[in-house]
Amino acid sequence: MENFTNTSKLSLLSIILILFSLFSWQATSDSVHENFLHCLLNHSEPAHPISPAIFTPQNASFSSVLQSYIRNLRFNSTSTPKPFLILTALHESHVQVAVNCAREHGLQMKIRSGGHDYEGLSYVSEVPFFVLDMFNLRAVDVDIESNSAWVQTGAILGEVYYKIAEKSKTHGFPAGVCPTVGVGGHISGGGYGNMMRKYGLTVDNIIDARLVDANGRLLDRKSMGEDLFWAIRGGGGASFGVIIAYKINLVQVPEKVNSFLVRRTLEQNLTEIVDRWQHVAYILPEELFVRLTLDVVNKTVRGNFWGFYLGGSEKLLSIMNKSFPQLGLTQSDCVESSWIESVVFWGGFDSGTSTNILLSRTPALSFLKRKSDYVKKPIPRDGLEGIWKKMIELETTMLTFNPYGGRMAEIAASATAFPHRAGNLWMMQYLVNWNESGSEAANFYLGLIRELYNHMTPFVSKNPRQAFLNYRDIDLGVNHNGNRSYLEGRVYGIKYFKGNFERLVKIKTKVDPDNFFRNEQSIPVLPHQLG
Ligand SMILES: Cc1cc2nc3c(=O)[nH]c(=O)nc-3n(C[C@H](O)[C@H](O)[C@H](O)COP(=O)(O)OP(=O)(O)OC[C@H]3O[C@@H](n4cnc5c(N)ncnc54)[C@H](O)[C@@H]3O)c2cc1C
Ligand SMILES: *[C@@H]1O[C@H](CO)[C@@H](O)[C@H](O)[C@H]1NC(C)=O
Ligand SMILES: *[C@@H]1O[C@H](CO)[C@@H](O)[C@H](O)[C@H]1NC(C)=O
Ligand SMILES: *[C@@H]1O[C@H](CO)[C@@H](O)[C@H](O)[C@H]1NC(C)=O
Ligand SMILES: *[C@@H]1O[C@H](CO)[C@@H](O)[C@H](O)[C@H]1NC(C)=O
Ligand SMILES: *[C@@H]1O[C@H](CO)[C@@H](O)[C@H](O)[C@H]1NC(C)=O
Ligand SMILES: *[C@@H]1O[C@H](CO)[C@@H](O)[C@H](O)[C@H]1NC(C)=O
Ligand SMILES: *[C@@H]1O[C@H](CO)[C@@H](O)[C@H](O)[C@H]1NC(C)=O
Ligand SMILES: *[C@@H]1O[C@H](CO)[C@@H](O)[C@H](O)[C@H]1NC(C)=O
Repeated sequence: MENFTNTSKLSLLSIILILFSLFSWQATSDSVHENFLHCLLNHSEPAHPISPAIFTPQNASFSSVLQSYIRNLRFNSTSTPKPFLILTALHESHVQVAVNCAREHGLQMKIRSGGHDYEGLSYVSEVPFFVLDMFNLRAVDVDIESNSAWVQTGAILGEVYYKIAEKSKTHGFPAGVCPTVGVGGHISGGGYGNMMRKYGLTVDNIIDARLVDANGRLLDRKSMGEDLFWAIRGGGGASFGVIIAYKINLVQVPEKVNSFLVRRTLEQNLTEIVDRWQHVAYILPEELFVRLTLDVVNKTVRGNFWGFYLGGSEKLLSIMNKSFPQLGLTQSDCVESSWIESVVFWGGFDSGTSTNILLSRTPALSFLKRKSDYVKKPIPRDGLEGIWKKMIELETTMLTFNPYGGRMAEIAASATAFPHRAGNLWMMQYLVNWNESGSEAANFYLGLIRELYNHMTPFVSKNPRQAFLNYRDIDLGVNHNGNRSYLEGRVYGIKYFKGNFERLVKIKTKVDPDNFFRNEQSIPVLPHQLG
């Protein structure tokens, strides 16, 4: 009895203490947030008022602004940590003010462009934070004469493609397939699409950039220097600065291109076809890209072969007949179109959909998880059969194989921060989508995709097991940005960047020694040398 009373007195006291410290913490953080708000208001240029760009939870549209670029419903729950403020920058100077005020008040900033980060790192954080939202900064200025365009990072890929096609039928840009992906995350993380084998990645087609650094300075390629310019081509922007715009190099596309989608199940010789795909997809002419996606339908595995060819159907059919007859591609499978119409086809829209769809910023959403791997030698047939068995058992997981080779194998691994070049046959993406909310469902589906990933271990790259930064995956490790920051960062860093990791760390240490630009998977600064 006495013990009981003592214990309850003790716990009552500790509850009071905890409540007290919570209140005082709340009070200090409130005043920090208040000071930050004043700092924003006090330092913005009169010509570019910042107040219409500021949203706090007191503003009626705070939640809808936050939600409008959440692209993974896992991070749209009530338990997801929310920012204390969102700044929807309307002018470059707002970005500079945000960086200066956040640094001054020691606040964590998250930068969001299109919001497609698979782990929500652009708008979620475990520590108190605000979001710098870039969606208003989305000008796309195309200059056909110089084969280039300045693209602000709040633009989505669909807009970029649309505006290029408005000016020319024979120019394009090699970037991602999903039109709602944002330029900011996509390009800085090394984006790729169906012209990768011909023209390389987005980062292989960047000629300049405008960036706000940790000191709030607005820099271009010349004033930032080649090291920093190298880092923001594949190293992820969020570790180095706020990228406001990239100058992109346009590429030539023929007036008519061809696309196809051919599906085959296990009953239709899928194993034999995939076996052949593995040996040929990475050495086909570089004008041809054949992506393979695998899903489970009616208790069988289905392979979906998505082809893209920079040329006419006659030539395409003859290449396929010679090199990949197992697929049985026919003339009626070929969809001939302009390049911009092929973008709509690859976006998965029904045939005949207007190219205006590329301007839409509202994709269908689900709960999801993605992972990635690199494959350096073909998976043996019995290996493929084991994978099919596992997929049928798991039912909802999917895979995508994206062939490398061509231009990808010619560019040096150190040319940009993106390291996965020669020696990779293809990149694998793991996918799982679901519609049920709650952590129970999430744990179930996360378990499935991790099981498939574990099953794949014998067939993929090792030491390190490589991964693609833009397929953000926090299973690879996270950084708490404490005094083990470098060691923690190295765990995921060498998977994403291999031999380029140490150079990224050196550049980071030089341009942002106080680690202002940080997140759960940012590039760490070098540990302080002892003595
Ligand atoms: C449906 C879908 C399809 C996809 N298809 C492809 C594809 O075909 N090819 C491909 O390569 N990838 C693809 N991806 C991955 C995509 O490239 C990455 O998720 C990319 O990082 C998204 O960029 P974002 O601006 O939309 O994302 P955000 O979530 O806004 O940002 C992603 C990361 O970049 C940082 N960041 C964003 N903007 C800036 C900026 N202006 N300055 C500095 N840092 C910034 C963020 O802080 C965050 O760390 C796809 C993703 C999805 C969801
Ligand atoms: C902002 O300006 C107001 C008066 O204009 C001043 O009271 C306040 O201290 C300033 N705040 C900051 C953070 O500079
Ligand atoms: C949000 O509320 C604050 C304070 O009332 C106001 O200054 C600001 O302009 C509001 N933001 C918008 C976008 O209306
Ligand atoms: C996100 O959550 C909010 C609040 O629960 C909800 O109103 C909204 O519909 C959700 N968004 C989507 C796309 O489900
Ligand atoms: C599968 O391949 C065999 C021989 O390799 C062939 O006889 C058969 O017609 C093929 N089946 C289909 C559905 O293509
Ligand atoms: C699955 O089987 C059903 C019933 O036979 C059929 O109607 C459906 O088209 C099949 N689905 C696919 C994707 O093949
Ligand atoms: C492939 O080429 C062979 C001969 O070279 C021809 O007989 C066959 O019809 C061609 N197949 C297709 C699908 O074009
Ligand atoms: C989720 O719901 C949508 C809309 O009903 C549907 O098209 C989709 O197939 C569902 N996804 C999954 C994984 O069940
Ligand atoms: C890391 O930080 C902790 C607590 O802040 C401290 O106790 C520890 O000594 C530090 N370790 C090193 C290696 O600096």
